[in-house]
Amino acid sequence: GDMDGSLYEPMKRHTTMLVGGPAQFWLEPHTFEAFAALVNYCRDRNIAVRVVGRGSNLLVRDGGIRGAVIHPEGGLFSAVSVKDGLITAGAGVRLKKLASFAGDAGIGGFEWMEGIPGNVGGALRMNAGAMGTETFDQVVSVTFLDEDGVIRTRSRAEIVAQYRNVPELRRNFALQATFKGEPDQAERIKERWDASRAKRRVSQPVAASAGCIFKNPETTPAGKLVDELGFKGSTNGKAEVSEVHGNFIVNRGGAAAGDVLGLIETIRAEARAARGVELEPEVKI
Ligand code: EPU
Repeated sequence: GDMDGSLYEPMKRHTTMLVGGPAQFWLEPHTFEAFAALVNYCRDRNIAVRVVGRGSNLLVRDGGIRGAVIHPEGGLFSAVSVKDGLITAGAGVRLKKLASFAGDAGIGGFEWMEGIPGNVGGALRMNAGAMGTETFDQVVSVTFLDEDGVIRTRSRAEIVAQYRNVPELRRNFALQATFKGEPDQAERIKERWDASRAKRRVSQPVAASAGCIFKNPETTPAGKLVDELGFKGSTNGKAEVSEVHGNFIVNRGGAAAGDVLGLIETIRAEARAARGVELEPEVKI
């Protein structure tokens, strides 16, 4: 039907870090209408609602999540199409898939997305970026469920997007978006795709992680700071500061969320004490 779900679903199955306790109600609506009905049902009853896409920028605590965790998938959530040179993708589409679809359609500018592990919904919520480009550089419009439970579409100019944060998509849940790029030759698109992949392959770990842990402070990139503080290779239980990039914590197998959180706190305390820098998490905790 329009929806699937389960009770006490382990979030370690739904996060790229592979950690996290159970979600009380795990729900997978397959249509915008089912999504809206679910959110409105929960809001009317004061049941906490969270939306989780690919769980790639998420650190779920070992105690799990109380309330409803909604995972949009299937139907329009998983659809991607092109019209008049613009690409429309559902919240549940992987950025990598959006990028390859754009390339096949002869539209360039999406290549940086090849290495982003998340889905469109998450990328919109946090204005994900890499290689000097951000999601909202390419957004034309976003369709979302608003705070009053109504599905609306807003153009790019009507949305405030900051570095790794789009405040209004905290309680307005993105359902799909339309993106723009530049018409380009397949060969040039492939070159940029390969360059992005090659850079990522040497500069970021392949082990299970949540991407970058901290936002870049204005002074020094977080990865460089963690590196200079000597944390690369440090472990706490089964969590380890990546040897490849200081701003990644990797799961060496069977890590608990507490292992990761412990490392985060240790690093923050040291950055504060040694450099006077306040490192803010970039992952959602
Ligand atoms: N560096 C070190 N040691 C390290 C890591 C980095 O000295 O262990 C140095 C690098 O040599 C470079 C500088 O720090 O001079 C910046 O590093 P990098 O080029 O890897 O970029 P970044 O600022 O660490 C940002 C994004 C990444 C994105 C990359 C590539 C943030 C917090 N991070 O990383 O995004 O993939 O650029 O474009 O904005 C994410 O959002 O999850 C993420 C990983």
